[in-house]
Amino acid sequence: MIKAIKGTKDILPDSIRNWKYFEDVITSVFKIYNYEEIRTPIFEETSLFARGIGEATDIVGKEMYTFEDRSKTSVTLKPEMTASVVRAFIEHYLGKRQPFNKLYYISPMFRQERPQAGRLREFHQFGAEALGSGSPLLDVEMINIAYDILKGMGLKDLTIKINSLGTPDSRKNYTKVLKDFLKDKENLLSTESKDRIKKNILRIFDSKHKNDIKVMKNAPKLLDYLDSESLEDFEQVKSILKSLKIPFEVDASLVRGLDYYTKLTFEIISGKVGSQSALCGGGRYDLLVEQLGGEPTPGTGFAAGMERILMACENEKSFEIQQSSIKLYIVCLDKNLNANAFSFAQTLRSNNISAEIDYLNRSVKAQMRDANKLNAEYVLFFGGEEYKANNAQLKNMASGEQEIISLDNVLNKIK
Ligand code: HAM
Repeated sequence: MIKAIKGTKDILPDSIRNWKYFEDVITSVFKIYNYEEIRTPIFEETSLFARGIGEATDIVGKEMYTFEDRSKTSVTLKPEMTASVVRAFIEHYLGKRQPFNKLYYISPMFRQERPQAGRLREFHQFGAEALGSGSPLLDVEMINIAYDILKGMGLKDLTIKINSLGTPDSRKNYTKVLKDFLKDKENLLSTESKDRIKKNILRIFDSKHKNDIKVMKNAPKLLDYLDSESLEDFEQVKSILKSLKIPFEVDASLVRGLDYYTKLTFEIISGKVGSQSALCGGGRYDLLVEQLGGEPTPGTGFAAGMERILMACENEKSFEIQQSSIKLYIVCLDKNLNANAFSFAQTLRSNNISAEIDYLNRSVKAQMRDANKLNAEYVLFFGGEEYKANNAQLKNMASGEQEIISLDNVLNKIK
């Protein structure tokens, strides 16, 4: 038997209701904040992600689904959306059409990671990118949107962590300081972290190795080496969050796994999903548009993992989905009338009434069981003596009341 590829998941009808509900929460919050949807292709030229996310990142170095197509172009299934959104922004001159663009998306993403609970190879993100303003108010807006959606899903066990990565210049200075600090401690670090000293030193803060954590605990903090503008913006973000009564923690080791960040970064963590606890992450990327060939344009955004959020919802029992229901189930009492029952259902359906009939020639009892399973509001007993006079018995399933009704009046009665 051929099975779905490891790290991918079918979303079956049982759970699709949760997804639809989730998507409704997402789109309604984005509407309130005046974001417009953007959709980009599933695959892009590999160089977009290599340049956008950074050659030295885990995503680009180890996790991308990259292959040569038949015309020998190297293409990659998108591992995240920011680079694609920025590419589309530049390609279609969105910045020229209007100075400020607020965009959101819901899309599958692909990363060849080791699958485990909350970590998939095909997963779904929703997220937002706002391009054209460097205002810290927008950074707060991103945190707010993500927080509103998570709360809209009924989640309570949430922690917001924020940090600032400053400008590339302040980061360069800090990198020197960190290198100096690690000079005589290199032999205490894991092989992976030793390797990162040259390639991507900040990411050592992300290491899960016990010894690395111990060493990095005493490391100088980037926040103490920020340039004055980044520091001012960070202070403003904190003070607005406080005034909005949004709880947050400053986490000086929150470095994020993508190279494009400048200034604010944030994550929202759940206490209910085990080791893959980051439900969402984001931050400002004021240099990315320029790096990808556009006019200098500041940007900020975030993305959230939908499977992880649904897992957190399940673990917190955070929402209950209404059972879906149909308006009318037509129980056919006489198999010779199957085609008439079908035509009758079609008339109702063309009048926007959800109607179902039996396609399996089941007994009346089995058809009633089916009607109950589908949560039918009404059942119509189609056939018998009544049918000869163009009538039928109509049963209201909630009250149990049953009446004889002309088939011509059914639509008006139930709509
Ligand atoms: P990211 O932190 O790589 O950021 O991903 C955002 C979220 O996607 C994570 O917090 C997690 O919930 C989910 N996620 C990531 N990888 C997986 C996986 N393998 N399986 C399941 N869920 C996963 C970004 O992607 C940036 N583009 C966010 C951003 C937008 N920054 C600025 N704008």
